[in-house]
Amino acid sequence: MAPQKHRRSSIEANPLQSGPQFNLIYVGAGAINFGTDEGPWNHSKRVEQKWGKRLNVVGIVDPNTAKADLELSKKRESFVADAYKNTKTFPTVAAARKELEGESFPHAIIVGAPPKFRGGLRTPADLELSILEHFPKVAMFIEKPVTTGPSEEAGEVGKRIAKTGNPVAVGYMLRYSKAVQAMIGLIEEKNLTVMCTSARYVMAYEKAVNIDWWDKSISCGPIVEQATHFCDLSRYFGGDVKLDSVQAHSVEWDEEPGQLSKQNIDESKVPAEQRIPRFTSASWKYTNGTVGSLIHGVALHDTDYYTELTVFADGYLLRLVDPYNNPTLYVRSPNSNAEKVQTFTNDDCFYSEISNWGDEIERQAEHKDEPIDHTILSSYEDAVKTYEFTWAIRLASERSRQ
Ligand SMILES: NC(=O)c1ccc[n+]([C@@H]2O[C@H](COP(=O)([O-])OP(=O)(O)OC[C@H]3O[C@@H](n4cnc5c(N)ncnc54)[C@H](O)[C@@H]3O)[C@@H](O)[C@H]2O)c1
Repeated sequence: MAPQKHRRSSIEANPLQSGPQFNLIYVGAGAINFGTDEGPWNHSKRVEQKWGKRLNVVGIVDPNTAKADLELSKKRESFVADAYKNTKTFPTVAAARKELEGESFPHAIIVGAPPKFRGGLRTPADLELSILEHFPKVAMFIEKPVTTGPSEEAGEVGKRIAKTGNPVAVGYMLRYSKAVQAMIGLIEEKNLTVMCTSARYVMAYEKAVNIDWWDKSISCGPIVEQATHFCDLSRYFGGDVKLDSVQAHSVEWDEEPGQLSKQNIDESKVPAEQRIPRFTSASWKYTNGTVGSLIHGVALHDTDYYTELTVFADGYLLRLVDPYNNPTLYVRSPNSNAEKVQTFTNDDCFYSEISNWGDEIERQAEHKDEPIDHTILSSYEDAVKTYEFTWAIRLASERSRQ
């Protein structure tokens, strides 16, 4: 049997654009919710696609209310203005609760605040608990990583979320990509057992000009912050990781192979002990005996990252190349040495993750108990395991250095 238990995502879920008003709050008025030139993420765009005329954004919560007002004014000047005609901006979730009643009460909240405000039990990291306190029945879509704080606290938050039974999804969007689902489909169809996962993620660092990203004390470092997507995808194919099996080595900023020639930040502003590694090479065992490995690097120039994940099973090689920009799947099957190539054009996994979450909300609202072929592929409790895994890699590489 294949180790993963998730059901397949239906990427072409029908947008449920007719029906009652759908009330939504965005928490965080930054890049993930309202878009950026740096990448395709932009939850508001996907939400508008999904709910169309039914969408009624009742609030934007951000302590930087000027930023929230700015994003709101841009929406009101655009073709989706109708969805934002009733929107109010609030500095906190508690402030939103005081004003949103009756017709304006939210059905769902998208949480795109930075991770240091999430996944914890105490202020200021307790955003989810604050949401559960003020809007106990609301559906949540929460960004990755689940936190930057202690994983035990995130685990407790996960338990409290699970207890509500509300539809809650975490933003590991690659799970929803058509290429990834084609791999899952093949593993299920052929009843394969995954033997090995091998992930490589090498970023183009020239345009990485946010100094926080280069500071482990702020971003937790590139494994926890960035490679988290590939650690999560590895887990999607390999299952749970034996955390005490994780081994890792790194090339650090002060080693000869770690010298970078195209940094557009002044790294001298980051204290030496907080600077990020340039390469991390990790390996581990999954609890079912499968092995896994990851190489993460900060090495390329220009803009495009190099990303590749290979899954091996008896007789099979499934090689996913460039899932972010140009997802291509190379499959080698028994009785042939040649790899068959499949490309996936016009696939928007950011839409699919929102769409699947939306379908689950609608299903629960209509009390439909029959199983559906598409659902949330990344639960909060599962995402906590990915967070723990990424920390295990970081800590193992730091240990090996000592
Ligand atoms: N899946 C992806 O590909 C992807 C892409 C980008 C960002 N993200 C994730 O989204 C999250 C946010 O990233 P971003 O790039 O949008 O950051 P950002 O800095 O652009 O925006 C964050 C916003 O949250 C606001 N904020 C701070 N504290 C808050 C609080 N307590 N309540 C509400 N709002 C608060 C900030 O004022 C800011 O406007 C991060 O976890 C990041 O990893 C994921």
